[in-house]
Amino acid sequence: MSTSTDPGAATPQATTPTPAPDSALLLPAEADGCPFDPPSAYRQAADRSPVTRTRLWDGSSCWLVTGYQEVRTVLADQRFSADGLRPGFPFLSPGRRQLATNTPGFIRMDDPEHARLRRMLTTEFLVKRVEALRPALQRIVDDTLDRMLAAGGPVDLVTEFALPIPSLAICLLLGVPYEDHEFFQQQSRILLDTRSPGPAVSDAQRSLLSYLGDLATAKRRAPTDDILSRLAVRDDLATEEAASMALLLLIAGHETTANMTALSTLALLRNPAQAARLRAAGPAEAKAAVEELLRYLTIVQAGLPRVATEDLELGGTPIRAGDGLLCMLSTANRDESVFADGSELDLDRDARRHLAFGFGVHQCLGQPLARAELQIALHTLFTRLPQLRLAVDEEQLSYRTTMVVHGVDALPVSW
Ligand code: HEM
Repeated sequence: MSTSTDPGAATPQATTPTPAPDSALLLPAEADGCPFDPPSAYRQAADRSPVTRTRLWDGSSCWLVTGYQEVRTVLADQRFSADGLRPGFPFLSPGRRQLATNTPGFIRMDDPEHARLRRMLTTEFLVKRVEALRPALQRIVDDTLDRMLAAGGPVDLVTEFALPIPSLAICLLLGVPYEDHEFFQQQSRILLDTRSPGPAVSDAQRSLLSYLGDLATAKRRAPTDDILSRLAVRDDLATEEAASMALLLLIAGHETTANMTALSTLALLRNPAQAARLRAAGPAEAKAAVEELLRYLTIVQAGLPRVATEDLELGGTPIRAGDGLLCMLSTANRDESVFADGSELDLDRDARRHLAFGFGVHQCLGQPLARAELQIALHTLFTRLPQLRLAVDEEQLSYRTTMVVHGVDALPVSW
């Protein structure tokens, strides 16, 4: 299957990519300082210029896009391609390259092929559809919290609360048996870790695709009321394509929301005044609070990769066809020209313009679901457990610094 169906744009014009000086920042930068802040190297780059030339692990160069307007511009302009097979596309690690070149999901395709596949899922995640799911999501949250309380503290909030909720939710929607969660959670971690070698990534991807392909085949024969069945019975979609779409949903659907729940909990435990605001919040305030947490934490810490398909200018910087770009949502969401005192967590802020879900045609498909899960999970956790606290010194916590999605490895809590 081709990932790029516009023949005129299939290869970038043959210009030499812009070189980077030897002194250029090497990506990905080491995390340092406050676990909620982007690495200082990115913040310093943002202070110098919203678009800076940097180097990657394989010796190639790419643009680091750190400013809010510039990130939006790149993500909204389809002259910047998301197709990982195009020359010059920037990869953060050998594993990320392997993933995009094996069987790319539609996140790594351009329109019209991207739009064709994405359209098959849009009705599944419409706000109205997700709103109707709220009672089921509340039940998942309540039951998960009941089990955690029954276990007695201290417990690891990541494994006992933050991870089961989105895993149960996406399993329910997709029609994947939750009993298999250890298998797919472990494979997802391999896929999302920038340290994973290429062959390990290929193995993990293959085993997940084969698992989901088998499920899709079974559902084609005997469909049930779930997304995978609806994909599997389509005449215009091969079983492998259905499996690839389900894989994207399965991974995007639980790792992100799980890390957001755990990191938000930590941020709120550190800011008791903000936690009190969330506890007192009605539904509208709880929604606003989650938007601010999404902005402040911006857990997709690896830059969103794109490659220019023609020569153009970005914020006054000339970009050549074939130049790779990494769009840093984390610095964009702290851009002082858009979010005053952006390094402060302020649940009363109107943060709706944040870019935590990306922007443009690839903007997160699952965002209504992620929002509903986060609003219900965090509000329920902090109202039912007003005495929630860390069960270890904060210095003992370790963070998922090498993962595409930021988070805390474990969060021991008691109440
Ligand atoms: C807090 C939770 C989440 C965050 C922060 C998040 C973030 C993102 C971001 C930044 C992108 C854009 C990638 C790009 O442009 O290259 C994206 C795309 C995507 N997300 Fe999410 N996501 C979250 C939850 C979810 C959930 C729950 C699902 C599904 C159930 C989901 C499914 C997807 C899909 C399918 C795409 C690809 C869309 C496309 O390429 O058209 N995400 N997400």
